[in-house]
Amino acid sequence: MRTPLIAGNWKMNMTIADGVALVDGLKSQLAGVDGAEAAVCPPFVLLKPIADALAGGNIKLGAQDMFWEAKGAFTGQISGAMLQDVCCSYVIIGHSERRGRFGVVPESWEDELLLTFGDNDVVVNRKVLAAFTYGLTPIMCCGETIDERERGVTDDVVSSQIRLGLRNLTPAQVASMVIAYEPVWAIGTGKVCDPAEGNRVIGTIRNEVRTMFGDAAEAIRIQYGGSATPENIADIMAQPEIDGALVGGAALKPSFADMVKAAAAR
Ligand code: PGA
Repeated sequence: MRTPLIAGNWKMNMTIADGVALVDGLKSQLAGVDGAEAAVCPPFVLLKPIADALAGGNIKLGAQDMFWEAKGAFTGQISGAMLQDVCCSYVIIGHSERRGRFGVVPESWEDELLLTFGDNDVVVNRKVLAAFTYGLTPIMCCGETIDERERGVTDDVVSSQIRLGLRNLTPAQVASMVIAYEPVWAIGTGKVCDPAEGNRVIGTIRNEVRTMFGDAAEAIRIQYGGSATPENIADIMAQPEIDGALVGGAALKPSFADMVKAAAAR
């Protein structure tokens, strides 16, 4: 039985004061709620104050990215050891806003290059491996662009992201980690993927994991992400393959707690 995980990706939002106020409220709303796990993933500079605010509650802390080296001359980077030091449990890796999309030809390729950070599948794999070195649970993201969906290559794209992202992991590591299937066209657009289609793609991902790692596929949690809200979370969670959600915009509001409760009630 897989416990659903509802994780809030705050992206580049919130001050310390606003973040602490939000998690103070979430903590009391979610006290005693079990059957689903909740996590918040604030920007790096908020991690320590949010960790302090979460103490004694049942909400976990995650980061939005990490670098694979432990320390050294890597200006601007944050290591897994540092995330461990501030009590992170999770780390999001390979979010589409960080992945390079160099294989596709977007309408405005200059904008595309400027707005991505070049996390290709090799980088994603290194970061996933490094997360385990520091006792962090990776939430590895995958998903197709609208162009890839319209060309009918969704399953090929996500299967390839899974094969490359999970290289050199052990079955036990894979069993303990989280994958987030996030169709890029559904992120921040209000266009949620049809839950049945999300369920189908997640089933494809689970099959790919089964081919690579056998029974670990039954244990790994695979979330849906992309315009998940308190209004549509029940339909998403009604799908048997979907083990929770990675939530962006709706994670910045107190009603994020309602999403966790809906997941717990399934
Ligand atoms: P969204 O973002 O919920 O705002 O669509 C999801 C994500 O990017 O993880």
